[in-house]
Amino acid sequence: MTGHFSQFAQNCRQRVDSALDVFLPEQTDPTLLLTAMRYSLFNGGKRVRPTLVYAAALAVNPNIDLAGIDPIACSLECLHSYSLVHDDLPAMDDDDLRRGKPTCHIAFNEATAILAGDGLQTLAFELLLNAKVSAELKVQLVGELANASGAKGMVLGQAIDLAAVDQQLNLSELETMHRYKTGALIRASVAMGALAAGANEEQLKALDDYAAAIGLAFQVQDDILDVTADTATLGKQQGADIARNKPTYVSLLGLDTAKAKAAELHRQALSALDVFTEQAVHLRQLADYIIQRAS
Ligand code: IPE
Ligand code: IPE
Ligand code: MG
Ligand code: MG
Ligand code: MG
Repeated sequence: MTGHFSQFAQNCRQRVDSALDVFLPEQTDPTLLLTAMRYSLFNGGKRVRPTLVYAAALAVNPNIDLAGIDPIACSLECLHSYSLVHDDLPAMDDDDLRRGKPTCHIAFNEATAILAGDGLQTLAFELLLNAKVSAELKVQLVGELANASGAKGMVLGQAIDLAAVDQQLNLSELETMHRYKTGALIRASVAMGALAAGANEEQLKALDDYAAAIGLAFQVQDDILDVTADTATLGKQQGADIARNKPTYVSLLGLDTAKAKAAELHRQALSALDVFTEQAVHLRQLADYIIQRAS
């Protein structure tokens, strides 16, 4: 992440990396399961979702103790990392490069990658259950994550994505797919940070409008980068969508219209934050970053 935003992003990354190292420490591991889980967590991810958790919490309460929400931020990263491990499997996108390194099933083997993904998913919920927050908040957080990640959220989006290979989707179908496969977890990240900071209904609504816009923008930009970026910068194979004949914003609309769509979503995201003062600075910068990012 570049520019003046980078200090906050770097702090968040450090928080997440140290906390994850405590939550999933290196240990004797004859099956290599934990090693594969750690391999998939500590491989240079941008940590966008945990950063959104912290940024949303700070928008609601600038004095919040970030240490208290580390488990929530880390749970989002565990869930996301699991989704990537499974997304890369031969039965799904069949990719061999992720975050600049061999994908989990290449570095280990397919069965280990499936189980590492399963383990990361379960760890995400375990972290929420062990968080030092009220029982009522825990139930809310677990509900948010379950809804966003399961068959009503990310997993549904992935199913639509796989069914769409070699198919023509119209714009509304494509948008639905993106909102589920990528948008749902991004919305959950913002909602969970906001809930942890005690957001009221009005704040939750505004933040959800913001998150829905950047959630979609994030996948639009991912589609754009698949065409415009190079493999070394991306850390994953450039052109993977075209190679697998996946409908994307770029394949449907062309590059320029896809970029205009990302810019329009960016405007929507910022206007949703109008009810917040300076406290939402990190969320505003994250919106900028999401459509300007190069990887
Ligand atoms: C990639 O997510 C997959 C999508 C949902 C588009 P990120 O671009 O956040 O990947 P990492 O975590 O930084 O590797
Ligand atoms: C990934 O979408 C969405 C999820 C992992 C849920 P992509 O398949 O486009 O992500 P990349 O491009 O492989 O990171
Ligand atoms: Mg995919
Ligand atoms: Mg993929
Ligand atoms: Mg992609």
